Amino acid sequence: MKELMINIPVVAKQENELTEQEKALVEEAKAATYRSYSPYSKFSVGAAALLSDGTIVSGSNQENSAYPSGLCAERTTIFYANSKYPEKSVLMLCVAARDTEGKFTTRPIAPCGACRQVLVETETRYNQPMKIMLYGTEHTYFIHSARELLPVSFDSSFF
Ligand code: THU
Repeated sequence: MKELMINIPVVAKQENELTEQEKALVEEAKAATYRSYSPYSKFSVGAAALLSDGTIVSGSNQENSAYPSGLCAERTTIFYANSKYPEKSVLMLCVAARDTEGKFTTRPIAPCGACRQVLVETETRYNQPMKIMLYGTEHTYFIHSARELLPVSFDSSFF
């Protein structure tokens, strides 16, 4: 038997350490939280994707009275980007969230497993690592690629 250790490098930056481009993406993700439709959870999530030509698209979580029919901000954004600009890869995705009191979370927001699966496939599809920025008021986490957020992940190479 052997034990495998899988570690992922995460860079934590404070707001004053962000580059101008990173700040711009954070602002888009934050703005998108105000377009969230989340009457059930009252947790407003926004995401912004930087595409290969500099285009930024954003999206938010969209809930439904039939709960599983809703969609997270990350998948709304990635599916929108891939639908509208199928020829453009996604270089970076930033996610921000406001809690039930309307305040931006202090901790970086963590994408759910289903979103991580979609992010990995997008990265594979475009053969382009997607940098992930998870915003929090105290720290923003930077992860080099979606695959690092979902180690030992399933993809089409298995079949
Ligand atoms: N949600 C997102 O949109 N992204 C995340 O990273 C975590 C959760 C949404 C789903 C649901 O609308 C609400 O937040 C509460 O789970």
